[in-house]
Order: sequence, then structure tokens, then C-alpha cells
Amino acid sequence: MSFRLQPTPPARPNRCQLFGPGSRTALFEKMAASAADVINLDLEDSVAPSDKDTARANIIQATRDIDWNNKHLSVRINGLDTPYWYRDVVDLLEQAGDRLDQIMIPKVGNAADIYAVDALVTAIETAKGRRKKIGFEVIIESAAGLAHVTEIAASSPRMQAMSLGAADFAASMGMQTTGIGGTQENYYMLQGDSRHYSDPWHWAQTAIVAACRTHGILPVDGPFGDFSDDEGYRAQARRSATLGMVGKWAIHPKQIALANEVFTPSAEAVAEARDILAAMEEAKKNGEGATVYKGRLVDIASIKQAEVIVKQYEMISAA
Ligand code: COA
Ligand code: MG
Repeated sequence: MSFRLQPTPPARPNRCQLFGPGSRTALFEKMAASAADVINLDLEDSVAPSDKDTARANIIQATRDIDWNNKHLSVRINGLDTPYWYRDVVDLLEQAGDRLDQIMIPKVGNAADIYAVDALVTAIETAKGRRKKIGFEVIIESAAGLAHVTEIAASSPRMQAMSLGAADFAASMGMQTTGIGGTQENYYMLQGDSRHYSDPWHWAQTAIVAACRTHGILPVDGPFGDFSDDEGYRAQARRSATLGMVGKWAIHPKQIALANEVFTPSAEAVAEARDILAAMEEAKKNGEGATVYKGRLVDIASIKQAEVIVKQYEMISAA
């Protein structure tokens, strides 16, 4: 560890972020009653241009009228390249109820994008005497976003979370695919005649996790488009969890249980982590820094690895 310790991210579960268009008010109560940790009401790409004003008004009303229970409530605003975003921010910050926790800024390209939104949000919060400071989450979904991912993670104390948006990211990168996340048919290695599929999202995910962990924010995997493919979703989510991400989006209620299953450390994983901690406690008593657990080496680094799992589990259980 360098002299500066790694900051801890917000201590709240973020296993599943459930999305719903701001134009489909009939979904709001269902979203509030769901098992998702985070609710993302959308003003951006699931809302047609002709519906933007109505969707904004719907969402503002829903922040006041609906019982969002213990959900972290977030609204995705439109991108800074559109004529809609300033109105999204102004109306939300002036009119939304105190229940609003966070806004999600899509297609972020650099830290200056966040600076601009922060300036506007801060001015309105002060003018209106809003006591609760609104958090920010962003989507990394462009070449620029990934190239500047570290400065974006460091851009504002409001920053809480960062998601990978696979579809827009693929388009911006010029990737030859129309799938939203998951295995890509043409991304494989050959061994003799057999194909081994690789993970084209791996680098982007790892870059996001590193930026987030450096700056104490939550790394999240974005959407998986084919909501009929449970196993495909699970496989993508398991890779993300293995790489250090804490959750994944649901674009259909079917995906909520899958995300909660993958991003809640399993009873076996928690039991094994606790056993490793106990084995290391024993080793410490004997003045040893390393010992053998089930035929494999565990040492002081293993304590930190095991603690990641136990702490995540305890944080989720306590919520
Ligand atoms: N949140 C909560 N409930 C939802 C929901 C959502 N996002 N999407 C669908 N439901 C409900 C439906 O109302 C229906 O409820 P019912 O059983 O009480 O009738 C049930 O889940 C089954 O829905 P289904 O008929 O399979 O889906 P649909 O055709 O109504 O909608 C989508 C499918 C994909 C259009 C819709 O899920 C959706 O809009 N998802 C979010 C899209 C989005 O926000 N994208 C932006 C981020 S990428
Ligand atoms: Mg997008």
C-alpha cells in the first residue's frame, strides 16, 4: 500500500440497479416493491424525445408520492451532448422530493463533464436550501470515458458509483457487435479446431474497477440485453464479481434475482473466508506469517482477500 491508504467506497449494497423508463409510470410501484438495491428512473435512452418533458414531470412526482422504502433512488439524466440535460438537472434539483439520492450522468467523457454538472447542482442546492447533497453516478460508455476513467473517478466528492455501459461503449469503440454485453461470437481463440471464447469487456471492466477502487467509489457492471438468457447473464455477472465489481443492472425484473444471487457472497464462500481468517489467527499465535489451508498456501494477503468477502457479506446482511 502506498502512503495514501485506499479509500473505502459507500457502505451500501449495490447488487442490482433496476431501470425503468420515466415515461412508464405503471412500472414505478413495481420497481419500488422489487428486490433491487438501487432504482434508476430513466430520462435518457429509454425515453423518446417527444416524451422527455412528461417523463421528467412523472419522475419528479414519483420522488414525492411513491414509498421507495430503503432503495437508493437515482435518476438517469440525459447526456451533456443533448439539449435536455440542463432542464433535467434544474427541474430535478428544484422540484424533486428529498427522497432523491443520486443522479446518473451517462456518456461521461472527462472530468470536466462532471465539473459542469456539479457546478449547476451545487448552485441549485444552495439557492433552494436543499440540505441533502445529491450523489453522482456515471456510465463509462465511450472511448473517451474509458481513456479518462481515472480522472472521472476522482472528479467530485459527490461520486458514488461507476457503471460500464456495454452497448454505447461498443458503438463508440467501433466494435463489430450489436449485442449488449456477454459472449461475442467472433471473439475467440483457436486451439486446433476448437474455439475458446474470450471476454471482450475484460479490459474496460478492469480499468473501471481500478479507477473506482483508487478513488473509493463502487464499480458496477451495466446492462445485459438478452433478458431471456439467464445463464448468459449469470456468466457475465460472475466474471464481473470475480473482477471486483459489486453489482449489475437489471433491464427487466427477471434479472434482479440473478444479480442478487451472484453479488451476495455465498454461504460457502463466507464460511471458507472465515476458516482462512481462523487459520491465519492460529498461525499468528505461533508467530508465523504463512500457513497451509486445505493443501494451499495462505498468508497475510489472504487475510485481506478473505476480509473482502466477509465484509461484503456483513454489509449486505446488515442493510
Ligand atoms: N421494472 C419493474 N417491472 C417491470 C419492468 C421494470 N423495468 N419491466 C417490466 N416489468 C413488469 C411488467 O409490468 C410486467 O408486470 P405484470 O406481470 O404485473 O404485468 C412484468 O414485469 C413482465 O414484463 P414483460 O411483459 O416481460 O415486459 P414488458 O414487455 O412490459 O417490458 C421492457 C420489457 C424491456 C421494455 C421493460 O422491461 C423495460 O422498459 N425495461 C427497462 C428499459 C430501460 O430502462 N432501459 C434503460 C437502461 S439500459
Ligand atoms: Mg447508454
